Amino acid sequence: MSVNQAPFPRTRFRRTRASAPLRNLVRESSLSVHDLIWPVFVCAGTNERQTIGSMPGVERLSVDLLVAAAREAAGLGIPAICIFPYTDPALKTELCEEAWNPDNLSNRAISAIRDAGIDIAIMTDIALDPYNINGHDGIVRDGVIVNDETVEALVKMGLAQARAGADILGPSDMMDGRIGALRAMLEDEGHPNVTIMSYAAKFASAFYGPFRDAVGASGALKGDKKTYQIDPLNAREALRCVERDLSEGADMVMVKPGMPYLDLCRQVKDRFGAPTFAYQVSGEYAMIEAAAQNNWVDGEKVMLESLMSFRRAGCDGVLTYFAPRVAKILND
Ligand code: PBG
Repeated sequence: MSVNQAPFPRTRFRRTRASAPLRNLVRESSLSVHDLIWPVFVCAGTNERQTIGSMPGVERLSVDLLVAAAREAAGLGIPAICIFPYTDPALKTELCEEAWNPDNLSNRAISAIRDAGIDIAIMTDIALDPYNINGHDGIVRDGVIVNDETVEALVKMGLAQARAGADILGPSDMMDGRIGALRAMLEDEGHPNVTIMSYAAKFASAFYGPFRDAVGASGALKGDKKTYQIDPLNAREALRCVERDLSEGADMVMVKPGMPYLDLCRQVKDRFGAPTFAYQVSGEYAMIEAAAQNNWVDGEKVMLESLMSFRRAGCDGVLTYFAPRVAKILND
């Protein structure tokens, strides 16, 4: 046998795959409970739990039950919870005034979790869709979603959330200029340490369908959101949105949806280095759950692998409806 010419490949990747200890040693990324943000739906009433047809395993909870769920999540080590309200259709108007009612469902949920002294960061959603008779994220005038007037409404909404005790404001509306306006408001109103996680790279996606059922916006929505959310074919535009939102004062940025947009996760993290999150949205959740319930895939393994993909792609964390389930597995 020649010295230089080994009969077998010198590089055998299977050597470091051969045992669990070696696999543990060479693993490049990790998934921990600290990477999870749990989106939750809150509804009116007490001791009320409502199923959501298109999101099996996810429920809307009344504030009292949500407080208990937040306590459990904190106990599992989940660092943040993100609150979405199911708003009574009677409270929806053209101007969306309920959005900045200090006593609206979302603000009551924030204060209740805060007052219970639970050690979990509270994230909010800033967009008018739960309160809009048109189902849009912005105010509609003559069929047009008006930008600047919407931003003024969003600032009022954000202020009410900060006053209720929110730690992370999550503008998901995609109006131009809202991050700068929210940051200025937080400084002026004495909330300099409230953080903003901008839904910066948010695409006009069909994967949001089940969420719109969950918050009761499906019936209301007239048309689509293409005049404000990003075209799924545009990556460079998404990167420019991230750059703009960071320059306006966002502390963290988000890519949404998640799995179909992993290329953006990687590019955003590499290019800007800012805390970067992905939202594994309702449609992604529903697809995995539907396949799992039919035993077409191993639900638990697919859930974990889907979340690992975000970490591999450079994300610091993931908003996922699987958060408590995956936290229990990771803690075992
Ligand atoms: C509202 C909002 C949406 C989601 C989060 N915030 C829906 C939308 O933009 O239509 C989607 C979340 C999900 O699908 O899980 N602006």
